[in-house]
Amino acid sequence: MVGIAPVIAKSFHDRLIAPSLLAADFARVGEEVRRAVAAGADWMHLDVMDGHFVDNISFGPAIVQTVNQASEVFLDVHLMISRPDSYLQRFIDAGSDLISVHVEADHEIGTTLRRIREAGLLAGLALNPATPLTAAEPFLAQIDLLLCMSVVPGFGGQPFMPEVVDKIAAAARLREQRNLAFHIEVDGGIDSSNAARCYAAGANVLVAGSSTFRAPDMAAAITAIRQA
Ligand code: DX5
Ligand code: ZN
Repeated sequence: MVGIAPVIAKSFHDRLIAPSLLAADFARVGEEVRRAVAAGADWMHLDVMDGHFVDNISFGPAIVQTVNQASEVFLDVHLMISRPDSYLQRFIDAGSDLISVHVEADHEIGTTLRRIREAGLLAGLALNPATPLTAAEPFLAQIDLLLCMSVVPGFGGQPFMPEVVDKIAAAARLREQRNLAFHIEVDGGIDSSNAARCYAAGANVLVAGSSTFRAPDMAAAITAIRQA
């Protein structure tokens, strides 16, 4: 994709599939990551939850480090935590390649995004389903990826909220108008039945947890989402 080369260079695909570790078997984290990569995963999506920003607790930097040691796959770390600025350095040190922080969290957004980039990582900004695109607008020149949530964050396995498609399309239009170059990622309830709508609206990175890790044939599931 023109203008979005830095991340694409890590992959052979224009449509990137990022299986979410949240749906994997936590007793075998390293094997699960290698299974996803062998099945065609472009990125590994790591959902960090603090029990405060969202109503669930998942894992922290130690698991990110474990995944980093298990595979060379690109690590797409999604921080669903109230104070991303306080924990940023630990997730950088753990081997993250991209860190997304929420616009709704309690931090100086511009400063956090700058710190991520200054550390040599890609910076992402995430929006909950109810948060309008206008909340991200002041920061679009500072990001490498805009993460549009298509479920209320906190849990895997929830149904896709189709209203996110309009937000994706609006973000893609704004990117074009302002001549910017960020990826658009969609996260939550993605499978081969809704992927095409996301791609058509302008998303190029699709997170998929349940529909990949819990599929009988993970490679077939990833291919079906990519080719939807
Ligand atoms: C939700 C997480 C998602 C989730 C996706 O809070 O941010 O990444 O794990 O899982 P599925 O694909 O099962 O909705
Ligand atoms: Zn996520």
